[in-house]
Amino acid sequence: MLDFTSQHTTTSDVAIRVRDLVVQFRRQTVLKGLNLDVYKGEIIGFVGASGAGKSVLTRTIIGLVTPKSGSIQVFGRELTTADDDERQQIERRWGVLFQQGALFSSLNVLQNVQFPMREYLDLSQRLMDEVAIAKLRMVGLPADVGRKMPSELSGGMIKRVALARALALDPDIVFLDEPTSGLDPIGAGDFDSLIRTLQQTLGLTVFMVTHDLDSLHSVCDRIAVLADGKVIEAGPMSTMLASEHPWLKEYFRGKRARGVPGLVRGE
Ligand SMILES: Nc1ncnc2c1ncn2[C@@H]1O[C@H](COP(=O)(O)OP(=O)(O)O)[C@@H](O)[C@H]1O
Ligand SMILES: [Mg+2]
Repeated sequence: MLDFTSQHTTTSDVAIRVRDLVVQFRRQTVLKGLNLDVYKGEIIGFVGASGAGKSVLTRTIIGLVTPKSGSIQVFGRELTTADDDERQQIERRWGVLFQQGALFSSLNVLQNVQFPMREYLDLSQRLMDEVAIAKLRMVGLPADVGRKMPSELSGGMIKRVALARALALDPDIVFLDEPTSGLDPIGAGDFDSLIRTLQQTLGLTVFMVTHDLDSLHSVCDRIAVLADGKVIEAGPMSTMLASEHPWLKEYFRGKRARGVPGLVRGE
């Protein structure tokens, strides 16, 4: 199985540490003793078959699903036993871009980006407007997009606004659940570059669920593979390409794959 001790031994390198995580819905056990370390400042990409539990893992780490057992530490703090105050302090340090329902359709763009600020901070409307516009610029959108409604935006713009909202509280970690699904390859590529730029300039730790092999090749420092309720492999793309595990072989080296190092986008 995975060796978690070899490379990064000090806990100060670790942003998220998950141990023996079990998540059950009625009779179905989705996560079966999952272990995972996410290192500070890395972009880690999660892959796995549809229904493997990638979204459940994400939602469990951020506290929307209660695990049956196991440990989840974020920046060294245990979340499964944290009280409301401790939880709030940690929640403020992450931003989330959900797989579904990226924006609130009844709120305009600025109000969407300001949503987490209203929840966690006590700022004047004027200051929130300024911050929200700054966040829009960060994700490559002009300020006048702020007055638009989500229905007036393209798919790519919606993802960017959702990213701006995820950045609203100046997080240390962002969780992105399939951020490029539904985008055309160019839109997806632009979004990937944006993630990489933001990660570098803001020093973010990025936890990204993605089916997009281009994203995995071009932006992810490491990849973690979810199967049978566990992380069955974690490492750089070279590890994935060398694996003899049938699922990894098919995924990274099968017909759909482009797994020729050196020939991929962004290298
Ligand atoms: N709230 C829920 N209640 C019951 N079952 C759920 C719930 N959320 C997810 N599941 C089940 O957990 C499994 C993993 O789902 P999910 O994490 O969404 O998969 P994916 O890897 O595609 O993101 C699926 O079988 C799904 O039906
Ligand atoms: Mg999912």
